[in-house]
Amino acid sequence: MIFLGDMTLLKYDITVEDTGETFVCHENEFILNAMLRRGNGPISHGCCGGGCGVCKMRIVSGLVFIEKRMSAEHITREERENGIALLCCVKPRSDIVLTRVTTTHELQRANPLTAINGGALKL
Ligand code: FES
Repeated sequence: MIFLGDMTLLKYDITVEDTGETFVCHENEFILNAMLRRGNGPISHGCCGGGCGVCKMRIVSGLVFIEKRMSAEHITREERENGIALLCCVKPRSDIVLTRVTTTHELQRANPLTAINGGALKL
């Protein structure tokens, strides 16, 4: 937690499961911005506005607030149900663990419940 005058900002630890990288993200900061602030992360970035899909990652655990609209062209309903988000559109509300996204087909193979019922899964 850091203090700015009267204002208190929470900060959360973000861990990238694939690489073991960790970085801090403040509650009022998009996760992609925090990743870029600390140097290159495991993914690229493009528009920083939810329109290109380049910053897509899977949230393995933790809570995020979706502040910007994520283009349906780049995030399908099925992907959202599997915890996939555009990091330029979400801010943390807890410590977060992320992993790189594989294809939807690979996700379904890894998680057959999704393929069977198409329902939401708790992460
Ligand atoms: S950088 Fe383009 S959607 Fe996130």
